[in-house]
Amino acid sequence: MNEHVTAAEAKDRTDNRKSLYSEAFKKFIVQDWAPYSSIPPVRLASADWTAARHDRLRAAFPGATLVIPAGPYKVRSNDCDYRFRPHSTFAWVTGLGEDREPDAVAVVTPDAVILYFRPRCARTNEEFYASSRYGEMWVGQRDSLNEMAARTGLECRDIRGLADDLSGVKDVLVVRDSDPEVTAQVDELRGGPDDRDSDLLRELSEFRLVKDEFEVSELRRACEATKVGFEAVAKELPNAVRHGRGERWVEGVFGLHARHLGNAVGYDTISAGGDHANTLHWIRNDGDLAPDELLLLDAGVEVDSLYTADVTRTLPVGGRFTKAQRRVYEAVLAAQTAGIEACRAGNGFLDPHKAAIRVIAEFLADIGVLPCSVDETLAEDGGYHRRWMVHGTSHHLGLDVHDCAHARRERYRDAELLPGMVITVEPGLYFKATDLLVPEEFRGIGVRIEDDILITDGDPINLSGQLPRKADEVERWMAALQG
Ligand code: GLY
Ligand code: MN
Ligand code: MN
Repeated sequence: MNEHVTAAEAKDRTDNRKSLYSEAFKKFIVQDWAPYSSIPPVRLASADWTAARHDRLRAAFPGATLVIPAGPYKVRSNDCDYRFRPHSTFAWVTGLGEDREPDAVAVVTPDAVILYFRPRCARTNEEFYASSRYGEMWVGQRDSLNEMAARTGLECRDIRGLADDLSGVKDVLVVRDSDPEVTAQVDELRGGPDDRDSDLLRELSEFRLVKDEFEVSELRRACEATKVGFEAVAKELPNAVRHGRGERWVEGVFGLHARHLGNAVGYDTISAGGDHANTLHWIRNDGDLAPDELLLLDAGVEVDSLYTADVTRTLPVGGRFTKAQRRVYEAVLAAQTAGIEACRAGNGFLDPHKAAIRVIAEFLADIGVLPCSVDETLAEDGGYHRRWMVHGTSHHLGLDVHDCAHARRERYRDAELLPGMVITVEPGLYFKATDLLVPEEFRGIGVRIEDDILITDGDPINLSGQLPRKADEVERWMAALQG
């Protein structure tokens, strides 16, 4: 067969399994396709909220042109990529979620906001069938420029014009860690990095500390979907025990609902039976579940707009807490209740932690494991209690599970809580099976309870409070679900 190899095909021939396209195929494939629909896509609910965000960016960087890439696909292995998930700064600026839009770039200028992306090509273009990155045959029908404009409310242009549009523009800043190619392009244009790039990243974190109404409603939806996932897990626990590798079964059940109701899980699910709960980031999830042990499940649904819940419940696998499990559980619950109570505007970000950790320290003193008094361990030069709860109690929550990661310490850890902030409250106690300081009855027990709390002008609102927290309620809830 007479095969013609285009330059693109030749470059792409890095493996030994592609068959080239015959001339006959090339003529045949472009014919007899129905025209694209003229009905525009539904405008995103987020589109009503992005203009105010752009105004804040412009006010922070007057006269500057701000380049905010979505990022490229990330390689999982060899020629397989992870499912695409845009950089959170891009999602915040454009309102785009799900898997939109690899290689896209948002540009905020003093008088426009332009979304550059790869619009669909005509079906007569080889890209239609030959490009596994952009081709309709491979990744589905892409938006045209007009369709994306209707979806987002933004002016849209072809990404291939970005370099030309930016050339000659003064004062360009870029979110550096999103797309190395775009960062290199901007650096070349400016003759190198600009120190203020990190200011842009910082502002894009700090602006997100206080959520707008849309963001709060999305976080509510994420918590509602997460509740469904936890209910499904509680219902399924007898099967998880029976099948073996119950931790994986649980991860799968939750993951099903995360993908069904939302975009994905917002972070890798921690499904930890028994002593595995004492490994804080236990995500291998390959253990069995035993009826006399606890399951610590830390899981959250990320909805299509990419806002995620972050919820932990610690459940008695067999449906009833043992005496020792209940004692630890109730200590953590009391700590969490004290922490949530401190989630008030005007309090410091650290106040929920201080309230929770005091209860934790008092319990540790009660069971006789602290080598000092409660006040001594809570003093700056103490910290003995951290052997059993080494992590903090709270973090901001939003598009990222650990949201606003580039905010300055004085705006985050050392700042006041403000209405509209959403933070987690997640104390725990972790008694490793190998911890010889701990009374034997508690060894191998790990408990965390985590909820997502909206700060208001008045009382804190627990966005994930539909899930039971009290030990008796947890038992009743499990019994009801398991029928
Ligand atoms: N799921 C991660 C965390 O609780 O921070
Ligand atoms: Mn958390
Ligand atoms: Mn968590």
